[in-house]
Amino acid sequence: MTATACREPFIRFRDVEKSFTTRSGTVSAVERLSLDIADGEFLAIVGPSGCGKSTLLMALAGLTQPTAGSIDVGDERVDGPVTSAGIVFQGAELLSWRTAVENVLLQAEIRKLDPEASRARALRLLSDVGLAAFADHYPDELSGGMQQRVALCRALLHEPRMVLMDEPLGALDAITRDQVQMDLQQLWLRSRSTVVLITHSIEEAVFLADRVVVLTPRPARIAADIPIELDRPRHIADRGSDAFRDYVTAIRDEFSRLGVFSDDE
Ligand SMILES: Nc1ncnc2c1ncn2[C@@H]1O[C@H](COP(=O)(O)OP(=O)(O)OP(=O)(O)O)[C@@H](O)[C@H]1O
Ligand SMILES: [Mg+2]
Repeated sequence: MTATACREPFIRFRDVEKSFTTRSGTVSAVERLSLDIADGEFLAIVGPSGCGKSTLLMALAGLTQPTAGSIDVGDERVDGPVTSAGIVFQGAELLSWRTAVENVLLQAEIRKLDPEASRARALRLLSDVGLAAFADHYPDELSGGMQQRVALCRALLHEPRMVLMDEPLGALDAITRDQVQMDLQQLWLRSRSTVVLITHSIEEAVFLADRVVVLTPRPARIAADIPIELDRPRHIADRGSDAFRDYVTAIRDEFSRLGVFSDDE
């Protein structure tokens, strides 16, 4: 059974539109987009550069208001920053003067969570992603992949029900990226939070997600919505399987149909 089956939607986009007024006129970034995301689902969004992915995620995080339509998370309409969410962006954005564990604990300080319990959880998360020995290292003593793992731990410290990630692994080399994808899968399998991941990589989307939504060139609309029915946990070697390749090919064909190509080429 896939994670999407028979579940109530937790996130609901209804006829969401977003346009920006600029000096050279109005730019429509998202056009009448409706999408349901189930509680506990891992959804990946792929689409051509500049099509409106980040805009969509910012709207879901409540950091920008849709021009029309609505977004609900749980029982609440999004009309301001969704402070309960865990958010990871492309760069790890760690504070250079704080160690790895102290960076993770920033989340606890902001939310005024119990320091002792938070520290224990931070250390456990760091250990889950193979950084037990690096908890007291400073960011400049960590590789890019390690820093990105610390950022993941920070986003998950408060056990958010919703985790939003915009190209979190985009800056990593291919091998490190594979490793952090495995870590991300493990963390999600344990937490079962609802994840929305934006990625340029079709392979990454298929590897991680329960469902991949392909967006059109700007303004973003849904071009395809593809459930990924591969067993979990998934392993790097599974990428050679026929089933995996078929999903990647189907999504790549969708990109070609839209007149664009992906980063995986
Ligand atoms: N604050 C803004 N003001 C004006 N235009 C904006 C603003 N934010 C985004 N846009 C425009 O909206 C469109 C979508 O941008 P967005 O950042 O959502 O794309 P994206 O799909 O995330 O791209 P990428 O894959 O390159 O990250 C672009 O044409 C962009 O120029
Ligand atoms: Mg973007």
